[in-house]
Amino acid sequence: MTQPALANRIAVPFVDLGLSNEPIRAELLEAVSTLLDSGAFVNGPQVAAFERSFAAYCGTADCVGLASGLDALRLALLAAGIQPGDEVIVPAQTFVATLEAVTQAGGKPVLAEIGELDYALDAAATEAAVTSRTAFLLPVHLYGQMADMQALRSLAERRGLAIVEDACQAHGAERDGLRAGAGGLAGAFSFYPAKNLGAMGDAGALATDDEGLASTVRALREHGQRSKYRHDLEGYTARLDTIQAIVLELKLRLLDGWNEERRAAARFLSEALAGLGDLVLPAIAPGSMPVWHLYVVRTAEPDALGSFLRERGIATGRHYPEPVHLAPAYAGLGYSAGAFPIAEQLARDGLSLPIFPGISESQLAAVAEAVQAYFRSGRE
Ligand SMILES: Cc1ncc(COP(=O)(O)O)c(C=O)c1O
Repeated sequence: MTQPALANRIAVPFVDLGLSNEPIRAELLEAVSTLLDSGAFVNGPQVAAFERSFAAYCGTADCVGLASGLDALRLALLAAGIQPGDEVIVPAQTFVATLEAVTQAGGKPVLAEIGELDYALDAAATEAAVTSRTAFLLPVHLYGQMADMQALRSLAERRGLAIVEDACQAHGAERDGLRAGAGGLAGAFSFYPAKNLGAMGDAGALATDDEGLASTVRALREHGQRSKYRHDLEGYTARLDTIQAIVLELKLRLLDGWNEERRAAARFLSEALAGLGDLVLPAIAPGSMPVWHLYVVRTAEPDALGSFLRERGIATGRHYPEPVHLAPAYAGLGYSAGAFPIAEQLARDGLSLPIFPGISESQLAAVAEAVQAYFRSGRE
């Protein structure tokens, strides 16, 4: 395999957060300086302002700012009245926090297979997993593409189940006229820095139309108090920091443009990488408008492709190489290898290529050329 001359190489990081922070630098520094003077670090008015903005963005009546995506999922389940041992159907391939939320809220995660196209809860497999103990469906809009919410909503309606969406990777995604976070009882978002909308630390939010649920989550996030020192519930410290709300409000204005840049990058990669060896490109389900949190391809030897790219200065990731049902932390659920072939194949073969707002055409071309070179040199 010949390598391009060093001088011609373009470094491609996996994400470049500086590109999304730079446009807000001046306004942010000014707002932080004002915050320093006001001292309203917790529950400042900027939190409620961001909650209104993000609810409007999601198309929901309300939004509750929280400390993380995990808090959003866990507090949604608790506020919705989950009972010990209630079953919650989750997809067999997701980030582990989806399961953490269920067990920490006292529920039992029941896994169901994902779809080949959208890598999200398959409606038929989900229906087959419903039992008399099922209380919730917890679809995950993995990599920025929504699950088939129309099908899951109709299933939930028929079987009397509530839906909490894990929209932690899908800020602004749409499918069949529904927007991520607005298609069920509540939608959980993470603003971990590398997310499509990222804070400068940990942060999250829950979007919902249910005012009662929002009010209970507001109490739970602050030691269970509905008014000062009146503790109706046992709660948590799970508030969205004022400083993160300031960052998020400034970045929210840029989110649609950034998602559009991600879409353009995904189109470029999908055109350039079509038909190479055993490479399987990410698919878009009919009626779906993903926001490309990640661009995940599949190939029989993802680590070999990843090393080949790394030697050429291109960073990649694996999301996620260990299927949750085979993680030691969840051995107690009793699943074994082979239980979910599509999820397991995605975990085994998936490789995430760089995609981020501001990725340049020359960086995208470098990624495409390197992947092409891998398949040409290695397979021909
Ligand atoms: C699918 C999914 N669910 C939940 C979470 C949890 O979010 P956080 O890290 O903000 O707790 C994440 C974030 O990494 C995620 O990607």
